[in-house]
Amino acid sequence: MSAKQEDLTVPRHIAIIMDGNGRWAKERGLPRTEGHRRGADSVQEIVESCGQLGVKYLTLFAFSTENWKRPKAEVDSLMKMLERFLKQKTSEMMKQNVRLQAIGRLHDLPESCQNQLHKSIETTSQNTGLTLIFALSYGAREEIIDGIKSLVESVEKGHLDKGMIDAEVFSKHLYTRYYPDPDLLIRTSGEMRLSNFLLWQMSYTEFYITSVLWPEFRREELLEAIRDYGRRQRRYGGVGDI
Ligand code: IPE
Ligand code: IPE
Ligand code: MG
Repeated sequence: MSAKQEDLTVPRHIAIIMDGNGRWAKERGLPRTEGHRRGADSVQEIVESCGQLGVKYLTLFAFSTENWKRPKAEVDSLMKMLERFLKQKTSEMMKQNVRLQAIGRLHDLPESCQNQLHKSIETTSQNTGLTLIFALSYGAREEIIDGIKSLVESVEKGHLDKGMIDAEVFSKHLYTRYYPDPDLLIRTSGEMRLSNFLLWQMSYTEFYITSVLWPEFRREELLEAIRDYGRRQRRYGGVGDI
């Protein structure tokens, strides 16, 4: 059945841990970079599908603070791929009315990558459809530490009274301050962990873990995740429908 015919409960914000590129390549006797290349095709298809379905925010975990530990050749190739992806897909984002954003310690990225990123963000800034947020050199603990530093600075400068600090105020000091919390987290490749992704923001997010590897996660798999999400009862600590 097509998504249009189906009565889907579409999450406002989907976050995805795009995992399993390396294993996809290994299974085929290919270099890991080939897995990343195919993974980029999944990114394209999932962005397009989310836009069509009316998802408002899509956060993609593309590179973690811990991923810098990987061999230099893999890191270099991922950075080049990211830059090329942004360069090639900005016109596609314009056609699809996608607004690009990024979270993470972006200053850690190679300069040419940062330049392309800011160019694509600027070009798409007036688009009103899907907001696509790339998490790059992103780590949730680092984000929380940066948030605490920013809070302390506001208090020291007299812009904020210590007694006013609560969860809502703190949220405004995180990289994600402009976006609502994710409704649905998808992790591909079957790992049951968060790997330092959006720890603060996912207090009440619904989790969907699939054994499908990221290069094979396409529109149909996304629809399956959304269908599953539609069957959840979100209680937020209350009693729900009894
Ligand atoms: C996800 O795939 C992509 C990044 C983390 C950049 P992996 O490269 O982690 O693939 P596996 O987990 O080794 O299969
Ligand atoms: C999480 O995947 C990071 C991204 C998808 C960018 P990893 O492959 O780095 O996670 P671990 O090492 O299996 O926890
Ligand atoms: Mg992995």
